[in-house]
Amino acid sequence: MIPLIVDTDPGVDDAFALAVAALSPEADLRAVTTVHGNVDVERTTDNARRLLGTFGRPDVPVGRGAGVPLVHAIEQRSDDIHGGDGLGGRAADFGPPVAESSLRAVALMASVLEASTEPVTIAAIGPFTNIATLLSARPDLEERIGRFVLMGGSIAFGGNVSAAAEFNVWGDPEAARRVLAASNVPTTMVPLDLTMRITLSADWLDDLATTGPIGAALASTRESYLAAYSARFGHAAMAVHDAVALLEALTPGTVTTTPMPVDVDTSTGPGRGSTIADMRGAEAIAVARPVDVALEADATAVRAELRRRLASPP
Ligand code: BDR
Ligand code: CA
Repeated sequence: MIPLIVDTDPGVDDAFALAVAALSPEADLRAVTTVHGNVDVERTTDNARRLLGTFGRPDVPVGRGAGVPLVHAIEQRSDDIHGGDGLGGRAADFGPPVAESSLRAVALMASVLEASTEPVTIAAIGPFTNIATLLSARPDLEERIGRFVLMGGSIAFGGNVSAAAEFNVWGDPEAARRVLAASNVPTTMVPLDLTMRITLSADWLDDLATTGPIGAALASTRESYLAAYSARFGHAAMAVHDAVALLEALTPGTVTTTPMPVDVDTSTGPGRGSTIADMRGAEAIAVARPVDVALEADATAVRAELRRRLASPP
């Protein structure tokens, strides 16, 4: 089994990702930690607790994390896509909520790492504030993190929250820089370039809804997400970014990666929150630590794998 912590800001696609983590037999899900992002941290924490209740996992501790980024406050949320409650207006239908841990996110992650005899995978699928704080506060624990799998960034796709920036990196660029460019943890980054090519159609979601209560609950969150994608891209199919990252965390090799150093623009100009990937191959890797950037995957196989994992009731 793969010891796993998920750091998340649910979020419709976070819900799909958490379902993968909670229901997959090879996942040893040791904690879920929450962060500001798609909605505020009170809401993301409540959503994470409700989702774990729906997935039949009251055994998983939920630790509330950062409510604001490390340095600069931000205003924007993504209510247009995820609905005002973060789960497409359906949050109240999930649950009952599992208990909240008495440990806050960073302390909970530290306690899991301290107790583990094996390296722990951390899948981070919201802004990276908690992860950066963990690395700064407890550098002694870095070697116990086997791998980061991060959903975030954009190599050549452009931004989804500004012209240049992807939402999770934009949500805390200073934290993203700490995690992507200044840690020694083996890191896989799953950017928009890949996740925007693995979309779920209304028909796919209709079919998921027929598989059981979990599939039906997940599919019920889709309305604002599909409407927003339809308005922006002209077709009603939604990218479940975070779920792709979780599949890769549990089945390494789901995505095909290319090593390249990645830094983050922390200026306050129009590039703020954009990821800068150095694609000069060996020349780049000789001077800066590379991260493994996921640029390819078999979209049909990923969708089939998602259906297989989400279709079974707990
Ligand atoms: C990321 O931003 C959020 O809105 C999603 O949950 C995902 O983690 C995609 O850019
Ligand atoms: Ca997310």
